[in-house]
Amino acid sequence: MRLHITNGNLITPDGPLRADLLCDDGVISGVLDAGTRVDCDERYDAAGKLVLPGFIDPHVHSRDPGNNHKEDFDHSTRGALVGGVTTVLEMPNAIPPVETLEVFEQRRAYHEKSAWTDFGLWGLALGESNLDQIGPMFAAGAVGVKLFWGYALHKETRSLIYNLDDEPPENLLMPPPNGQVLRLFAEVARHGGLLAAHCEDKDVLATSQEQLGHPIESYEDLLAARPATAEATTIAIATEFAKATGCRFHVVHMASEAGLEAVRSAQRRGVPVSAETCPQYLTLTDQDYPRVGPVMKVYPPVREQRDQDALWNGLNEGSIVSTGSDHAPHTVEEKNRGFATQPAGGVGCETFGPLLIDAMLRGRTTAERLAQVAATETAKLYGLYPRKGVIRPGSDADLVIVDPEASRTVRNEELVAKQPVSPWHGVELRGAPVATVLCGEVVVRDREVVAPRRGRFVRAEHAAASVG
Ligand code: DOR
Ligand code: ZN
Repeated sequence: MRLHITNGNLITPDGPLRADLLCDDGVISGVLDAGTRVDCDERYDAAGKLVLPGFIDPHVHSRDPGNNHKEDFDHSTRGALVGGVTTVLEMPNAIPPVETLEVFEQRRAYHEKSAWTDFGLWGLALGESNLDQIGPMFAAGAVGVKLFWGYALHKETRSLIYNLDDEPPENLLMPPPNGQVLRLFAEVARHGGLLAAHCEDKDVLATSQEQLGHPIESYEDLLAARPATAEATTIAIATEFAKATGCRFHVVHMASEAGLEAVRSAQRRGVPVSAETCPQYLTLTDQDYPRVGPVMKVYPPVREQRDQDALWNGLNEGSIVSTGSDHAPHTVEEKNRGFATQPAGGVGCETFGPLLIDAMLRGRTTAERLAQVAATETAKLYGLYPRKGVIRPGSDADLVIVDPEASRTVRNEELVAKQPVSPWHGVELRGAPVATVLCGEVVVRDREVVAPRRGRFVRAEHAAASVG
């Protein structure tokens, strides 16, 4: 199967290039002068369009299995594909969670049946109780292990407890003490893996909630109960642990200027700390709450304009290397509840690409940096490079073709998600992904899926990543 993409503006590691792209049997086989005549099975005219590496969404909670009424892998990966994502990295907190090699292998086989995108899998790090599973999960190809640092989990299901009053104390599994976390860092380092964490310090959260003195009723209350100091404190502790052990540590969904300062200071000291942020932190602020409403509740919370501006600076200067959606659906009914009782998290993998494209066209970043944080650097971080994340011969032919002149309005009723309720409902976005190419085949045209399901599991190679 040969695909010929003509006249596009390719976003390559060496900069933009007006050229044709040839894909043979799922792999990029050549970058040709525009207009070169070749025989092919399919031709796509990309004149006037940008051709970027297919986006990688490294932060997706598909709720599958265990909470399939909220979302499932079929819907999350199909929505992602429509939005220009060609690889999804699935978070481990389904039921049962991916906390052993055995569940890892089961989950791989299970998701292979319903994947519309290629996918990798995260493992769950609990502390001492599954320390012996860290090595086996990396050997099986885990992209990273995730510690829900600061979260209480349900003892039986390991589900996240969003509000401590939701469960009686005897059902709670509290986050591991720091001594155990240090051992976890050492174990991940021993296997050359990547440790990522939700960074909100549980003691800072508890005292802040206590000081507030009443349940969360307004957006101001939410910000007071979950201050940025909680994020920066955890990153500071993690920096010491990463320095002591040599473990690569990654901050997921970083939301604050204070968190960014902590990451920058680790990086200045040469400690291997990296960070991700998400479209919600890059495009929304507390000022949007009156318009968006309760559906905006995520942990850590969306903060102020100065935090958003700082995150864009961090992304453009290189302190933030990766973006993810944190697609974490709940039911529409749950999301329409009041603040105190609703769970945190929202729908996002379908709008992930379009929101970043819109921001790029509004001048918040360049097309080159967008390709890096949404594909190339993400692939490097998770041991998928150079197979994924880059337009160059030999890499998988995963692409997103963007029309910079188009515009589209996000509409809940058009989302693929099982529980379609988006904080961006009604927002008009500049530019749009007009085609997604997966494994050398045009699989989406103008939001319509036009090819059969073909997602495959991708194994992370962490040792290869450091030399790639
Ligand atoms: O808002 C969130 N929801 N933040 C997280 O860290 C987890 C996620 C979920 O799984 O619901
Ligand atoms: Zn998450």
